[in-house]
Amino acid sequence: MIRVLFVCLGNICRSPMAEAVFRQMVKEEKLETEIEVDSSGTGDWHVGEPPHHGTRDLLAQKQIPYDGLRARQVTVHDWEKFDYIIAMDDQNIKDLRKLKAGNDNIVVAKLMDYVQNAGESNVPDPYFTGDFDYTYKLVKAGCANLLTYIKVVNGL
Ligand code: 4NP
Repeated sequence: MIRVLFVCLGNICRSPMAEAVFRQMVKEEKLETEIEVDSSGTGDWHVGEPPHHGTRDLLAQKQIPYDGLRARQVTVHDWEKFDYIIAMDDQNIKDLRKLKAGNDNIVVAKLMDYVQNAGESNVPDPYFTGDFDYTYKLVKAGCANLLTYIKVVNGL
């Protein structure tokens, strides 16, 4: 099993969006038995909450299921469980490195590292921008390329 964890700050806007979008793509490719998906936040303010209504509305509009998603905070144990920890921005990477530094035998990267022509190296936070559509456009492109990458690297 290949395990993928998406990480943002609050785990209510961007990373649950990425989790839901990526899971849907994995399902469409019939890879649910090969790839497991989760998300978490570096902060703890929203632990236990469902995704932000902006993310819920967007996912509903795209007919992407998000049932049961609840915010949780990332822990050091996630480094033992996951093969790919995919952050939304530079600050997430810094915070993740504070939690666990050193050489890990896993991939810790940003979602936009997988999109070369987006003109963005971070996924803008719609909690502050209010633009969930633009964030979705980037998340969708990132997830599609990440899945292609994981398939190639793991021979799926
Ligand atoms: P997210 O957005 O990291 O994409 O989930 C945020 C959600 C909540 C807060 C910040 C960012 N907050 O400060 O509560």
